[in-house]
Amino acid sequence: MTEGQVQRRLGGATILLTGGSGFPGKAVLSALLTHAAGFERLILLLRADDDAAAQRRLTEEVLSNDAFAALSPGWLRDRLATGRIYAVAGDLASEEPAGPQRSGWGEVDVLINCAASVSFEEPLDWTQYLEYVHLPEVHRKATA
Ligand SMILES: NC(=O)c1ccc[n+]([C@@H]2O[C@H](COP(=O)([O-])OP(=O)(O)OC[C@H]3O[C@@H](n4cnc5c(N)ncnc54)[C@H](OP(=O)(O)O)[C@@H]3O)[C@@H](O)[C@H]2O)c1
Repeated sequence: MTEGQVQRRLGGATILLTGGSGFPGKAVLSALLTHAAGFERLILLLRADDDAAAQRRLTEEVLSNDAFAALSPGWLRDRLATGRIYAVAGDLASEEPAGPQRSGWGEVDVLINCAASVSFEEPLDWTQYLEYVHLPEVHRKATA
């Protein structure tokens, strides 16, 4: 897919990204912000006690990473201040993985999953459970 096709596909879309705090997740997030910034809204599902804590993880832990150093701070601040980019608390391993509903949650067009359990001590069926059982639940809620 060319950059133009990606931009057309994601232009005006509401995107839900999981695992944005992880290694490939940060790379995907950086690529989105750099090459597909025409999205309408970008929601990150991050593990945290509540949405406020998830938002803090986004600003203090994720966006402070060197991967985002080339972005215009003013542009990023504006997107955060206007709610075009925000984080919600969610844990794919919990029985209620998607967190509470909030504005924009029901309008997700594109779900990008970068979350994964990378513990080699967990049984294979548990790691598959995260992706195949709980991720569809997140998708169902996000697109309901
Ligand atoms: N590392 C690489 O070079 C690389 C390259 C290509 C593909 N991959 C693949 O990418 C995936 C992630 O690997 P990684 O090495 O990047 O691991 P990582 O940095 O630890 O990232 C894992 C991500 O998943 C999130 N996560 C884990 N369990 C979760 C849960 N129950 N609910 C919600 N989010 C959860 C983590 O969030 P927290 O911040 O809350 O822990 C983190 O954002 C794996 O499938 C791996 O095979 C990795």
